[in-house]
Amino acid sequence: MGPLFRTIVGLVFGGLASRLLGLVGHFRASRMATRRTFVRNAALGATGIAGAIGAAGFGALLWPNKTGAFGSVLTVTADQVPEVGAEPFRHTAGRFYLVHNEDGLLALYTKCPHLGCTVPYVGPAEAPNAFQCPCHGSLYDFNGDRTGGPAPRPMDRMAITVDGDNVSVDTGDIQTRAAYTPDQAVAFQA
Ligand code: FES
Repeated sequence: MGPLFRTIVGLVFGGLASRLLGLVGHFRASRMATRRTFVRNAALGATGIAGAIGAAGFGALLWPNKTGAFGSVLTVTADQVPEVGAEPFRHTAGRFYLVHNEDGLLALYTKCPHLGCTVPYVGPAEAPNAFQCPCHGSLYDFNGDRTGGPAPRPMDRMAITVDGDNVSVDTGDIQTRAAYTPDQAVAFQA
């Protein structure tokens, strides 16, 4: 094998080897770039998901879903509406008593206007102290009018809408009053 032949063979194999090494290097570089892109996209995705969860939680704080809970409009079905003068229907979640007097329906907020205790109904309807607060002794008649004790006003009331047999009470619409007047009651026909 002459020197010329060895030189040619060396050039050919040397060129091939160098191209091969170049290709391997390129392949490695591209794999590393792919891995970097994957890691970057994964990090961005995780950040995006965390941001979306945080935004959803913040939105829930700003606009809580009050359906069926205190603060929303709650329905009382016809069979739950008491007879005139009967024991009021107590809606525990809605924090109100549905009172049926001779003028119609009243929704009385169970929270004592004095310092906020829950006022139990002790009855009967004709008693001057149909509602008695156990905390400091405030007394209220069947319509929620104050008859004694330290409370500064009658029991507060909630807005009522009657639609056919169904009664809706807006537990987010709580109104104070100086005294009971018949126009506060909403007519109801069973
Ligand atoms: S909280 Fe009811 S009387 Fe004080």
